[in-house]
Amino acid sequence: MKRQQIAAGNWKMNKTYKEGRALATAIAKGMTSTDSLVILGTPAIHLNAVANIVKKVPNVEVAAQNCHQEKSGAYTGETSVEMIKSVGAKYVILGHSERREYFNEGHELLAAKVDTVLGKRLIPIFCCGEPLAIREAGTHVAHVKKQLEESLFHLKKKAFSKIVIAYEPIWAIGTGVTASPQQAQDMHKAIRQLLADKYGSDIAEGTSILYGGSVKPANAKEIFSQPDVDGGLVGGASLKPDDFLQIINSFS
Ligand code: PGA
Repeated sequence: MKRQQIAAGNWKMNKTYKEGRALATAIAKGMTSTDSLVILGTPAIHLNAVANIVKKVPNVEVAAQNCHQEKSGAYTGETSVEMIKSVGAKYVILGHSERREYFNEGHELLAAKVDTVLGKRLIPIFCCGEPLAIREAGTHVAHVKKQLEESLFHLKKKAFSKIVIAYEPIWAIGTGVTASPQQAQDMHKAIRQLLADKYGSDIAEGTSILYGGSVKPANAKEIFSQPDVDGGLVGGASLKPDDFLQIINSFS
């Protein structure tokens, strides 16, 4: 089965309304035909505008970077999946290491968010990945296994088949240090094996697993060419249209 290749941008907390619209417009204009899927993960406040800009551009979708686990209610300052869906976004990034670290998002909360997102027929881009100390101790596969087990493996096969996974080693996020193509491949292969053990090889072979952590035009081609790497979740380089467009065109 051919897996969906995805170049996803994670704008994090960057860009004003005007700048965000300019970035989305530049990406929409610069796109040449591609079989891969492009996802723009914008701040919640820009989702509607960016969804409108890319509406008629084939293979471009919009993602929220977080959502609340409850459907609605008295949660001042939060964004619900229904709101996200109503402005045209189809994806929600969940479990990013910055959310885990700065907002104390743990396994159980993330499992609830995954359920809420899937319940609204949106697609979670579920992030996992280890800190440097775990990598140095050599227990990174076990670390990621626990993240998947605790927040995703309660799902039935059909629900799990919708999930996109992003492996993002924390030591490579925003640091300029990228995992080597081999390190990325080894981890992606290990993740795919975990999915095969739990859900069978058809699900494992069909799940897109993205690499994240200092992806840039200079390294995207080599990373994306690894057999178990199906694209990238890109932070810093997704804020520059030329860089992101080059990354979008890095699939072979
Ligand atoms: P980076 O961020 O590309 O700036 O390292 C990746 C991410 O956090 O998703």
